[in-house]
This record gives sequence, C-alpha cells and structure tokens, in this order.
Amino acid sequence: MPDRFDLPAGFRWGVSTASFQIEGATEEDGRGASIWDVFAARPGAVRDGHTGAVACDHYHRYPEDIALMQGLGLDGYRFSIAWPRVQPTGAGAVNPAGLAFYDRLVDALLAAGITPLPTLFHWDLPQGLEDRGGWLNRDTAHRFAEYAAVVADRLGDRVPAWITLNEPFVHMVYGYALGIHAPGRTLMLDALPAAHHQLLGHGLAAAALSERGLAVMIANNLTPVWSASSSDADLAAAQAYDALHNRLFTDPLLLGRYPDLSAYGVGPDLGGAVRPGDLELIAATPLDGLGVNYYNPTRIAAPTDPGLPFTEAPIEGVPRTAFDWPVVPDGLRELLTTFHTRYGTALPPVTITENGCSTTATLDDQPRIDYLAGHLDALAAAVADGVDVRGYYTWSLMDNLEWAEGLTQRFGLVHVDFTTQRRTPKASFAWYRQLIAAHRARHAR
Ligand code: FCB
Repeated sequence: MPDRFDLPAGFRWGVSTASFQIEGATEEDGRGASIWDVFAARPGAVRDGHTGAVACDHYHRYPEDIALMQGLGLDGYRFSIAWPRVQPTGAGAVNPAGLAFYDRLVDALLAAGITPLPTLFHWDLPQGLEDRGGWLNRDTAHRFAEYAAVVADRLGDRVPAWITLNEPFVHMVYGYALGIHAPGRTLMLDALPAAHHQLLGHGLAAAALSERGLAVMIANNLTPVWSASSSDADLAAAQAYDALHNRLFTDPLLLGRYPDLSAYGVGPDLGGAVRPGDLELIAATPLDGLGVNYYNPTRIAAPTDPGLPFTEAPIEGVPRTAFDWPVVPDGLRELLTTFHTRYGTALPPVTITENGCSTTATLDDQPRIDYLAGHLDALAAAVADGVDVRGYYTWSLMDNLEWAEGLTQRFGLVHVDFTTQRRTPKASFAWYRQLIAAHRARHAR
C-alpha cells in the first residue's frame, strides 16, 4: 500500500479498548461490582439485556488478543484498568489478584514489543463509591488519586505514560444528566458537580503520577460544533454547546478556569462544587499529551424548548455509520486546527486516543477502511497545518460490548463471535497492518 498518509517519523500507531467492554470475568479473582454491572442488570438499560459478564472474555484470552496486536505491528495499546478489580469497593483494601492481572497484561505487551497506555478510569466506577454519591461526591476525587497511586506504584516501572480519565463529558452527560449510561441518574444540569469532581480527580491523580516521574494525559471526547445557520440565535446556541462539550473539560486543564456557562444559568462555581484552590490544582500538573476521541461533528440550533440553551440539529447529506453517526472525516482536521488556534502554546501534543466506526459489514468491512482512511487524511492535513499530533489509536481492536447498545454495535478490526469467542481479523485489520508497515518503511529509508 502506498503510504499516502503523510505523518511524521516516530508517529505512534495503536488500538484502544476499555476494561468493561472486553474483559468479562466480572465476578472473578475478587473483583468488586462496578456501576456498569448494576446498571446492566436493570431491565431495559442495555440492549437485549446484554451484560459484561463475559464480553470478549479478554480476562482469560488476553494472550491471543496480544498476539493479534503483534500481528498488526502496533506501537501502543490503549486499554483501561478496572478500578473494582484493584479496589473492590473503591477505597482502602487492595485486591492483589486484580493488580496481578494488569501486571501480567503489561508484561505480555512489553514482550510483544507494544507500549502499554493505560486509562485509569473508563467509566466502570466501583459500586461502593456510587453508593456514596459517585462523582457527585467530592470524596471520589480523593479516592481516585489513591487508586491511581496504588496502580502506578505497581506498574509505573514499566508503563511510562498514563491517561487519567476517559471522556468525562460523556460520563457526566450520559451517566448523570440523561441516565442513558451507568449510574443512570437523570439530573440534567444538576449533574455539573460530576464534571468538577472528575476534573479534580484528574488533578489529584496527575500529581500522584507526576511525583512518580510518569507522563500524564487525559482522553476527552471532542467535537467541532456547527451552527445550524448564521442567525444570532443559532450562533449563540452553538457557542453554548461548545462551552459544555469542548471547553468545560479543556479550559480548566489548559487555561486554569471554567468557560462561561451563563447561558445555562450556571456561575463559575458550577453549582457550588468549586472550592478555593481547586482550579489551581486541576491545572497544576501540565499535561504531557491531550488525548482526543473524535467520532463526528455536532450541529446545533437555537433551543426549541426551555431547559437547555441549544438543540441538536441533524447533519444531512453525509454517510452514516451503523450507529447512525454522521461520517465527516474533515471534522477531525477542523477540530484540531480550531484547538490549535484556540489554545495556542497551551495546547500540549495531541494523540488521537479513539476514532473508528461501527458497521454492519462483518469481515469485508470496506466502510471501516473508508472511514479510517478519510480520518487519517484529515489528520495528515491538520499536521500539515501545524498541529503537533503524536499518535493514532483506533477504536477498537475487536468487536466488544458497546455500553447501552450491548453487543449490537461492532467497532472492531477483529470480528468476535460472541457465542464461541472466535476472533477473525476483518479486511480493515489487514489494511491497518499494511498502513503501519508502509509508514515505518518510508521513514526507515
Ligand atoms: C466512546 C467511548 C468508547 C466507545 C466508543 C465507541 O465514547 O469512550 O468506550 O464506546 O465511544
């Protein structure tokens, strides 16, 4: 394959997964319950009643999965650590068997020449902490830092860089505001303290990681926001949405302040959650990298009913994924160049920590190849425009448990038969392998 994606030498190629979506073994080796176990047990919460009990059985099959990754020729693997395996109730006692699993995983990755890039929190909060308010409780931020220190003490000798949180925006909105994800709360704007406490948890964990000489990243879900028209009302709505989706989780980290949320009737203390010193703490440890999870842009119009200062408008005339998400590859370039302009020198090097699509195609998944190729072109264009992008981790290595969609949305380069657990590489797997090889060959010359 010609290496048409003009990305720099040393650019890192990877795949991403998350613990609850692939591991299974939810009751093994002393793992405690997570909010996703409890949520998935609620009738109607997850499509077809699927649970995480088995998922991809990765807990037992990780050697086979690492062999697949080695076949791809990856530089890195982004996975997440299940907090309830390490601390079954989220506080205090550490479960040695849980930590030992990640120890084995890291060693096996290193033996395969793959750098582990762990995420400390990808949504599977210990239920014991949810019983005390979850991320609405400020104490959860302190518990998170304690857990981060435990894991870093065990793996930090072999794992150079760490991601604290995955998509705090999606966790707050889906989990606490709308109730589509665990923990299933429907608090609307009263969910905002869950944003602040996640960011505080990031700040405290980042300090713990950095004290141990480890590099710190966060993975945010980001989206270019398109105003539905150039009317003042639509433009104001788009600005309000941008503040919530993009700025709420980036401004405090990079600029040390919250964005203007007055359109939501919310002051700079986020409903009383922000205490003196918090913002300093959130920004105190500079990010060594910003993880960007990009799937699609968002089109926004003036509100149609009171409550929120925006309404989401459909994006017409573009292909759509099986999930019905619009496919707009250039949105990735737009997002990155917007951030580059907006944050200037405050923007750390970027790594694309998630990007991919679900398709109904099984093995011959040309739509995924087209999706990835389009986004890599857009990424190369952003790099040519001066954005410092260091790596690309596609979502996902293999088909897995897509949260509330259960096993119905297939995002993998590898097909998983959930009855037999048989893994079969799709056409996109071979395509990605060749792309990585071509990039390496070009820069070796
Ligand atoms: C992201 C999540 C990830 C996966 C993809 C499709 O929002 O971080 O776990 O579900 O969407």
